[in-house]
Amino acid sequence: MEKLIVHGGTPLKGRINVSGSKNSSLPILAATLLTKESCTIRNVPDLSDTNYMVRILGELGADVERASGVVITKAEKIKSTAPYDLVRKMRASICVLGPLTGRLKRCVVSLPGGCVIGDRPVDLHLKGMEALGAIVKVDGGDIDVNARKGLKGCEINLMGKHGSTVLGTDNVMMAATLAKGTTIIQGAAAEPEVEDLANFLIKMGAKIEGAGTHRIVIEGVKELHGAEHKVIPDRIEAGTFLVAGAILGEGITLRRVNPDHLRSVLDAFKHCGIPIETTKDSITVRPNPKARGFDLTTLPYPGFPTDMQAQFCALACAIPDTSTITETIFPQRFMHVAEMKRMGANIDLQGATARIRGGEPLKGAPVMASDLRASAALVLAGLLASGTTEIHRLYHIDRGYEHLDDKLIALGANIERVQE
Ligand code: UD1
Repeated sequence: MEKLIVHGGTPLKGRINVSGSKNSSLPILAATLLTKESCTIRNVPDLSDTNYMVRILGELGADVERASGVVITKAEKIKSTAPYDLVRKMRASICVLGPLTGRLKRCVVSLPGGCVIGDRPVDLHLKGMEALGAIVKVDGGDIDVNARKGLKGCEINLMGKHGSTVLGTDNVMMAATLAKGTTIIQGAAAEPEVEDLANFLIKMGAKIEGAGTHRIVIEGVKELHGAEHKVIPDRIEAGTFLVAGAILGEGITLRRVNPDHLRSVLDAFKHCGIPIETTKDSITVRPNPKARGFDLTTLPYPGFPTDMQAQFCALACAIPDTSTITETIFPQRFMHVAEMKRMGANIDLQGATARIRGGEPLKGAPVMASDLRASAALVLAGLLASGTTEIHRLYHIDRGYEHLDDKLIALGANIERVQE
């Protein structure tokens, strides 16, 4: 196992390129199962999660080649079963459910477990498959979907009690592309990654309108064909580096980014007085010693993303003022708080709201990464702290950040990756 050693306080400056989006790549790779023909996906980040999805496609019978950001797939014949051993390591493996149902009309996909940020139900995914006419049974930890008589277009509302579901919308949209008739998804997730998937499906011959809004209309087609697609930039990786640039140094510039996808995050920076400059595909951020505290609530897109909540806790530690962050999507997603407190952070957690009194000096300490974004927040806190922070369980970061340490080193950070 590896750990990251962060020697804090080194100023950051310079430019880096943002990688392709993890959360777009995973469903887009899964969508290649919808066709027998070859698909080429570009700008796929080199991460353990995307490697894992490539492995799942291979195990399901697809031929997959991968080289420097490009994945070429051909899923001529595929299996209908994704057992526990195959899907258990990554919750997002659930996004093979829609393509397998759409293409084969019958599949068994093991139920993903919960994870540290919550119990992560999939009831809305199953409701969607049922609405399309499948008989769905959950038995022995497996989801058994049977639509032998074919899938039929339907009208369905996918709004859950914490908002819309991203991968649930993806699954229903993918299955509906090969259903008979028209499907209308109300309460659809409007995240840019859902729109990116829809754009890929349209290139494959699907008829989809409204992706990127809360109402998506899909007119089923008989079959889909091969297509080529470039994945959008990773807005969460970008947001994470923006926090790094906002907490110390002389300013950093992110290139190959889409500022439109980060509007709520950029508004949050501006609101607390942190200067942001954007062009069509770049963002520059600089620290402001006089920055003000903020009150943020996580919401589905276009609201402030839950995937940036932990990193903004680190930002709040740097601002000499009081800030609050309320988590509405995954109310238990505060594993980073206890670790940051070990570094001296003044954070009071009441239910799903963290109240942070920033400006107190943080001091490096050994800390434990618990999930992807919490780990990134600990790296940020380590950059801000004096002394040395050791971040254990580095594999959480490698799930979702392409060469995070190399990119930070390129910006001047003093970081080492070492064996435990
Ligand atoms: C995706 C993202 C993840 C992000 C999350 C919310 C990927 C690979 N992952 O995860 O990074 O944090 O969106 O933006 O894209 N829910 C239900 N029933 C369901 C499904 C979800 O109640 O059937 C609830 C969840 O518990 C949560 C909320 O809906 O409270 C949103 O979850 P969802 O959008 O489904 O998350 P994912 O798609 O798994």
